[in-house]
Amino acid sequence: MKNVERGFGLAAEAYELKSRQDAGGTEILKGFLRMNYCVVGLQWGDEGKGKVVDILAEKSDLVVRYGGGANAGHTVIIGDQKFALHIMPSGAVRPTTGCVISNGVVLDPEILIGEIDGLAERDISMDGRLFISENAHVVLDYHKMEDQLREDALGKNKIGTTIRGIGPCYADKIGRSFAVRMADFRDIDALAERLRKIVDYKNKVFGALYNADPIDVDALIEKCKVYRDRLVGFVCNTTRLLFEAMDNDKNILFEGAQGALLDLDHGTFPFVTSSNCSALGMGPGCGIPNQKVDSFIGLVKAYATRVGSGPFPSEQDNEIGDVIREKGHEYGTTTGRPRRCGWFDAVAAKYTARVGGINEIAMMHLDTLAGMKELKICKAYKLNGKETDFFPSDADELAGVECVYEAMPGWDEDLSEVTSYDDLPENTRNYIARIEEIVKVPISIVGVGPKRSQAIFRNV
Ligand code: IMP
Repeated sequence: MKNVERGFGLAAEAYELKSRQDAGGTEILKGFLRMNYCVVGLQWGDEGKGKVVDILAEKSDLVVRYGGGANAGHTVIIGDQKFALHIMPSGAVRPTTGCVISNGVVLDPEILIGEIDGLAERDISMDGRLFISENAHVVLDYHKMEDQLREDALGKNKIGTTIRGIGPCYADKIGRSFAVRMADFRDIDALAERLRKIVDYKNKVFGALYNADPIDVDALIEKCKVYRDRLVGFVCNTTRLLFEAMDNDKNILFEGAQGALLDLDHGTFPFVTSSNCSALGMGPGCGIPNQKVDSFIGLVKAYATRVGSGPFPSEQDNEIGDVIREKGHEYGTTTGRPRRCGWFDAVAAKYTARVGGINEIAMMHLDTLAGMKELKICKAYKLNGKETDFFPSDADELAGVECVYEAMPGWDEDLSEVTSYDDLPENTRNYIARIEEIVKVPISIVGVGPKRSQAIFRNV
């Protein structure tokens, strides 16, 4: 591992040095520039990973999406163009960056093809720089159908999924017999034969349980032929590709999806997604061990949001939540659903930072809080009358906690033009410092607006 003895703020330091190098400066420490980062959300997703990944991708040779699927929605704003990507790594918008979709992803071919075409319309080609794992599992129509049928059947107890077929596809992966992987598109006749058996089974089950209309297997096979034509050229052994990239000292950026509170094992089960979307999922999701990452960067918003069902202790289902939602444009990138909004939950962030071995934090959307007289930070929970600073991930237990808040004075200043940490208002810096103190991880990147340029890197 490189330079880790220098402690935190690696992203900030490397970014600054590389920028000086780009500007023709001479004080370059070469070793610093060889960095592998992993960027993961520490809340319930939508923390602004797309933007941070996009910025760091400038210094990366490869960006790797290693988990989740088209349930994710990563927005990148460049100039006046907005890119919303669901399955493609956010590095795609940088025309020379390699993009890897590794084995841990559940890939919806229809959505990926749409994104390849959407980028091409903006003169961004993926030819020769998109690498899809042959072991990535494939989301097909019957997965999305099952997601919808199950949610409908659960009624008011539904998980609130994105209906992108994520859970059913991962279930088929674990179950193995009905799994379809990207490698299967190489022999379309063999795949067609298997699909007939799989669809026959699914039709019987969906018909019996939900009285659902049968899936037309011939139409599905025709779709799969299109997927084969469009995607097989990108399919390869991405683990080998990553080993070779590491042997050749390439900089690799691992891009997490969702947020650690939605992690299947460590999040607020059952109101979670079906993958290990905390930093712990990186190794299994791409074949590279965590020790090869120089810095795990945890993303948070300066407040908290959640979409879908499940406990959310610091939720403000009131005027405060409404103000945050409108100012922060808190509507889902994938589903358009209004996000539930609340105060920053430092208990939850401390937990997810610890679970993921997070070295430094990027705090986004700080500009959204401008104009609020008073801000609150949830610094502990009250559970059965006792105060605790440990996050109980069990959904029932979490639903029973009460937040212990610490109030802090807000600020009125518009932050969107601020470019240096020292120029942030004193109250903003105090807010950041207090969160660092509770979460026990330094905040090295601060987001003050949606654009690439609106990020402040700080040596901590
Ligand atoms: P699924 O991943 O579609 O099965 O949804 C399970 C839960 O995770 C639901 O509450 C979704 O709203 C939530 N979820 C999944 N992906 C994201 C994301 O990228 N951002 C925020 N929430 C997400």
